Amino acid sequence: MIPRIDALRDPVLEKALHEARHNGSQAQIYAFQRVSSTMEIAHELAVAGAAEGTLLWAVRQDQGRGRLGRTWESPEGGLYCSLILRPNRPQTDIPQLSLVAGLAVVEGIRQLAQISPSIRWPNDVLIDEKKVCGILVEVRDGAVVVGIGINVTTKLSDLPSSATSLHAAMASHSNLRPPTSDLLFPLTGALCRRFQAWYDEWSAHGFGPIREALRPWIGLFGHPVHIIAGSRHVEGTATDVDEAGRLVVRLDSGILRQFEMGEVTLLR
Ligand code: BTN
Repeated sequence: MIPRIDALRDPVLEKALHEARHNGSQAQIYAFQRVSSTMEIAHELAVAGAAEGTLLWAVRQDQGRGRLGRTWESPEGGLYCSLILRPNRPQTDIPQLSLVAGLAVVEGIRQLAQISPSIRWPNDVLIDEKKVCGILVEVRDGAVVVGIGINVTTKLSDLPSSATSLHAAMASHSNLRPPTSDLLFPLTGALCRRFQAWYDEWSAHGFGPIREALRPWIGLFGHPVHIIAGSRHVEGTATDVDEAGRLVVRLDSGILRQFEMGEVTLLR
């Protein structure tokens, strides 16, 4: 399909990932030792007609990217992947996919690492209030690419001080065995299976079932928050996620406001 990409693929990694995914999915896996960004390759493949569910995965990225033009540090030890999707839902529902992915991430982490993270609406996963995973949803030429980055055994010295890794979090919970890099494939497999289950639910029934399932994972409800939404800075108390996936915040005046997107910080 795209020879330049084929030439860089790693068949050993692909085979291991395929076995880890074992959910009967026929969708292609493209695994790399090193790429610029799995997002870029996913978009190229999507334009070339790649099927829904195609997975791009890399050991490391040289130009990993985050939201709002930020860099996503991607040394070896992290889980970096992008999924190509062709959703049947209206365009306005697409941002909900970051919460669908967030739900899959927290369930995958709990299953594999016996640790309960929280979702910081709309697209971060935290452990002990530090970021362990970021999610990026991009739409180009009608295809949607969902990118997920999880710090697994990543060295803390390679990460910003606001971030942590699964390894560090488990090491600080003395009853847990810290994960090794062996966790990368099983975690990718669990993540893909949980994502597929919730994506099917979302495709068939919309955001309702996702909303119910993710409420217990959202650590913000009842807490004072600061939100930056575009040029607006707002403070209030986070109260819920509504039927469209928007964060509902009660302002000091008592008025309820919904946010479609934003950067949320917990206020103490
Ligand atoms: C964020 O928190 O800002 C989102 C980070 C998303 C990072 C992932 S890692 C895999 C995929 N490839 C990228 O370049 N970015 C996403």
